[in-house]
Formats: sequence, structure tokens, C-alpha cells
Amino acid sequence: MIFDTHVHYDDEAFQEDRDTVLKSLAEHGIEAVVNIGASIQTTKNTLQLMKQYPFVYGAVGVHPSETGELTEPLMDWLRQVASEPKVVAIGEIGLDYYWDEPAREVQKHWFVRQLELARQVKLPVVIHSRDAAQDTLDIMKAEHSEEIGGVIHCFSYGVELAREYLKMGFYLGIGGVVTFANAKKLKEVVEYMPAERIVLETDCPYLSPVPNRGKRNSSLNLPYVVDMIAQLKGMTPEEVIAVTSQNAKRMYRLEGTGI
Ligand code: NI
Repeated sequence: MIFDTHVHYDDEAFQEDRDTVLKSLAEHGIEAVVNIGASIQTTKNTLQLMKQYPFVYGAVGVHPSETGELTEPLMDWLRQVASEPKVVAIGEIGLDYYWDEPAREVQKHWFVRQLELARQVKLPVVIHSRDAAQDTLDIMKAEHSEEIGGVIHCFSYGVELAREYLKMGFYLGIGGVVTFANAKKLKEVVEYMPAERIVLETDCPYLSPVPNRGKRNSSLNLPYVVDMIAQLKGMTPEEVIAVTSQNAKRMYRLEGTGI
């Protein structure tokens, strides 16, 4: 069954029908999802969803664009909740120079602090990196992230950077973007990388694949992503689902937990 490694089901886009969508996942072949914290509030929402639904796991952390709210007492709180059952990662954390807020030095500071937190609590990281290729790589190397592990979510760089992250033992999150006609660079990355390092993600409600591009995304759209990866890798969709699901469980250290 499909493992969706990156979702935001607490988003207001699911206000009307969240319970219906979540309860329909299993019958559509979605085994588990990881709801990703992007701020203190959405981390709280994630903890709530995790408790409510057995197939929802969680990542706790603060997205680079939200790091203006972080303080050391809030880091202590994140450390506390990181040890709750079903919390499988610290994230999403990183650098975002597309929105470029708050100041880059602020983003970098809290990126490093959250990498340190992940090391301390022995959880992998979910990395968000947008228009910040060099600084992200430099910080991750300086912090010896190869000892932490995790995923570069919504991977958006080229083959050369993919090689760097694969060398560090990281997984690359592939979602709806790979189905876009203009996603030549990402298609090359998928062709290049070993299938054993691909994890599926939606980033829903964002980034719906073709043919639903522009509409609200959900895990139910992942078969379109699976089909494109299968085509690029010369695999069957069933093989893609099996290998990416294994990868996700290995990455989030859920092997042997019975899911
Ligand atoms: Ni996200």
C-alpha cells in the first residue's frame, strides 16, 4: 500500500471534509500518512491528528518562513513533544529564500538548532529547501547531517545536488511536480536516482499532480505520481508502491512496528 510521507491535513483547505477524506484513504490503498508541522500551531494540530487517527504519524518542527516565532523555551517544548509516540521526524525545517522572510541569518540559526534537536532526540529530519541550494547543503554538511538522516522534501534541484544528498544517505521526496510537463530537471533526477531512495509525498493541499493540477491535493492523487515514476524507472506501478513504502518505513524507522 501507498505511504504518503508529507501531508498537511490540518490545513484549512480540509476544514469541511477532513474526517471524510482521512477515513477514505485506506479503501483507496493509502496505508499511512505523516502530517508535517510547519509552525508551533500546526505542530499542535499534528499531535492532535496523530492521536485521533491510527494511520496518521507526525513530524514536529518549524518551517523556515515561520522561524521568526521560535525561542529557546519553544525549542524545549519541541524537544518534549518529539518523544511522544508516533512522532517520526523533526520537520519541516530548512531554508526558504523564495519568500525570503524572516532574514536569512534568522532562518539559518533555527535550521541549525532544529538539526541539533533531531540529533539529540535521534529522529530523522524533513528538509524544506527552496531557492537556497548552496546554504542548505553547506549547513547540512557542517552539521554532519549524514549521521541524522531523513528526506529532502519536494526535491526541486538537479542531478548534481541529488548526488550530494544521496551520498549523505538522504531520501528524496517526489510528488505532483514530477507529472508537470515542464519538470524536465526533476524527471532526470528520478531517472538517475536509485528507486531505493525515492519516497512518495503529496505536500497536500498543495502541488496536485496532472490531471488535477491547480485543484486541492490529497493522498488520493498519488497514483498519478506512481504512474509517472513507474514510467521513468521502467517499473510497474505495483513495484513503485512496494519499494517506496518500504523506503518510507525505513526512513521514518517504522520497520518492525507492524504497519
Ligand atoms: Ni510541506
